[in-house]
Amino acid sequence: MSARGYARDLAALRADLEFEIAAVKRYGRMAEEAGDPQLQALFKELSVGETGHWRGLRRTIATVEDSATPVVLFCPLCGWQVDFGPDPADGATGKCPMCPGRFALRLDAGGDWTLERLAP
Ligand SMILES: [Fe+2]
Repeated sequence: MSARGYARDLAALRADLEFEIAAVKRYGRMAEEAGDPQLQALFKELSVGETGHWRGLRRTIATVEDSATPVVLFCPLCGWQVDFGPDPADGATGKCPMCPGRFALRLDAGGDWTLERLAP
């Protein structure tokens, strides 16, 4: 999967990443400011959890941006995966492995992949 064709997904992932980074900092600050040791431990645990989300989102974004990751969309007819391989061209064609669905991969004006159904 290359970053091309995933504009909305990447925007959402990056917004989530910003939120998680802010949450890590906020919980860290709250742990420093908490007078009660149990509350301090709770905020530290929450910060650790948010750090895991942060790391997971970074990894997911890197996978989406990696041109070696195949572009895979769900068949609108049966829901199975249609694999267009890594870094496909706009207009690449693919066939659903589970139903008669045939599709052309199209890049829409917003920068997202869409499927155009082709005649069987
Ligand atoms: Fe299908």
